[in-house]
Amino acid sequence: MVKSLVSSILIFVAFYSSYAQNWADDVHSYARPNEVRVKHVHLDWTVNFEKKKIEGFAVLTLERFNQSSSLMLDTKDLEIKSAEISADRVKFTTTKFQLGETDKTLGTPLEIQLAQDTKFVRISYSTSPQASGLQWLTPDQTVGKKFPFMYSQAQAIHARSFIPLQDSPQIRITYTATVRTPREMIAVMSAEGNLQSIKSRNGIYRFRMQRPIPPYLIAIAVGNLAFKSLGKRCGVFAEPEVIQKAATEFADTEKMMQSAERLYGPYRWGRYDILVLPPAFPFGGMENPVLTFVTPTIIAGDKSLVSVIAHELAHSWSGNLVTNATWRDFWLNEGFTTYIERRIIESIYGRNRSEMESMLGKQNLIEELKSLPASDQILHIDLKGRDPDDAFSSVPYEKGALFLRWLEQRFGRSRFDPFLKKYFNTHSFQSITTQTFVNFLKKNLIETYPGIVSIEEVNEWLEKPGIPKNAPNPYSENFARVENLAKSFVEGKISAKQISTKEWSTHEWLHFLRAMPEKLSFEKMEELDKAFKLTNTGNSEIIFQWLIMSIRNNYEPARNRLKEFLTNVGRRKFVRPLYVELVKTPDGKKFAKEIYSVARKGYHPITQASIDAIVGF
Ligand code: BES
Ligand code: ZN
Repeated sequence: MVKSLVSSILIFVAFYSSYAQNWADDVHSYARPNEVRVKHVHLDWTVNFEKKKIEGFAVLTLERFNQSSSLMLDTKDLEIKSAEISADRVKFTTTKFQLGETDKTLGTPLEIQLAQDTKFVRISYSTSPQASGLQWLTPDQTVGKKFPFMYSQAQAIHARSFIPLQDSPQIRITYTATVRTPREMIAVMSAEGNLQSIKSRNGIYRFRMQRPIPPYLIAIAVGNLAFKSLGKRCGVFAEPEVIQKAATEFADTEKMMQSAERLYGPYRWGRYDILVLPPAFPFGGMENPVLTFVTPTIIAGDKSLVSVIAHELAHSWSGNLVTNATWRDFWLNEGFTTYIERRIIESIYGRNRSEMESMLGKQNLIEELKSLPASDQILHIDLKGRDPDDAFSSVPYEKGALFLRWLEQRFGRSRFDPFLKKYFNTHSFQSITTQTFVNFLKKNLIETYPGIVSIEEVNEWLEKPGIPKNAPNPYSENFARVENLAKSFVEGKISAKQISTKEWSTHEWLHFLRAMPEKLSFEKMEELDKAFKLTNTGNSEIIFQWLIMSIRNNYEPARNRLKEFLTNVGRRKFVRPLYVELVKTPDGKKFAKEIYSVARKGYHPITQASIDAIVGF
């Protein structure tokens, strides 16, 4: 009797745990993973540059927990042609489907009727030329100017604009794909198969991602691409015109991998390659597994901006191996990654450089907090009814990294480093919530080494606005020197020419420029420009800072450069603040509208949405 009770409890537990994998409440997805879960996706795509459409089908492999329920998917601007079901993946029969009401941010739920024995669903569809997760570039938007280019950017909730699926980061899937492109073009994806693409160059490409990933990590790019190896397991893809420069800039990639592995355990994804996109790419980088996507604006010629590579590589642990379960847990991805990024930088380029980058990061955070409502200053942010793209800020990045650095300082690296390594091993290939992290932190640090950190302190970091009073203060000797020089220059005690900048890295330049007061006279601006050729610098971070200053001070000689920058570069981090600064004056607003009317068509939908809200469209 007791025995049978125990065994039925065991059976129940076994059944229940497969069925109730504690799904988090994801306000950004229509999926009902507790009823049916997609496990694998096969894509068969034709990339049509004339129509700016991907056409083809997706076959979804299902795991069903409730035999009577239908399948609910996320879609956005997709044209659904048919839905078919199958028990064996061989014989498919047509089934009923229904598109629900469209939400501007979330898109349109797609409900598909299933039969008792259904294990596979095939959906034939095509994307819209306006798909929010794709950008179609004309040849003149590329470096080579001969071939068009197309790429995807699925994070946070744009995978649904090119694949009908359960678009929630807690649903992990494997995928395979067959991609057909114009014959002379190359397709690459966030999967195995990219080196094969380069070798065959025949217009039909096959890919396979065998490790379970969240849907926002599915990615594709098609263009005229070349490849250069950087080591046994890493390399770079780019247009042939930039491949050599890119390879030189990213030469330290293998070293970075080894440094991350020493800290947090083996790299689990096979290869790590980098794809350099055309300048319209809206982000610095995107951690697509096996193939990080980056903006060409980090190629400075002196490796000074490669922290973006360290960052995207770090996501191979924080983000891709251990994933935020919902977008309110985004700080688990970005805070951890920013912290690890700086650990990698420290180990390769030294503490001095990582401290400068930490200081610049904290400055950004403090600056941004001034204009953020309290509710957006919280790491464990409430995103109900909001577009994750609109809530994007440096809070999850820099406040998240400060929190981890604070834990590191309290417990010491000898305890904190093994703790993080264990965190990644324990949750590898899982999607977790902030609560799961807190439980793990309690058990493995707070209670293991009592009397060091209280749960109330942790709670303040995670649930309260602002920066806690005892937050870490990164410090750099170099920056202190630069500040003094900036002060002397502003006060007229020294001239620009007297400042010895020979040893300065990009970081010191940035700190120097940021140390200037909001208002500088034309003479001082001109003096800086003449001494340091700032208007002509090719370093994207420095020119950005200089252009911000030029707008604030109405510095006419930089106007053409500003126009050129805004029409060539689509990286949102640069473009958005420049427009924000411009629209502050009537004259600037006129200039902004003039530039935007030309530049808009070259921006990614994400950048367009941000700038529309500033300039008006
Ligand atoms: N995963 C992010 C980019 C992202 C975040 C895309 C949210 C869409 C929604 C990526 O890892 C990232 O953080 N990129 C940064 C660079 C980094 C060095 C701070 C960027 O693009 O600025
Ligand atoms: Zn990131």
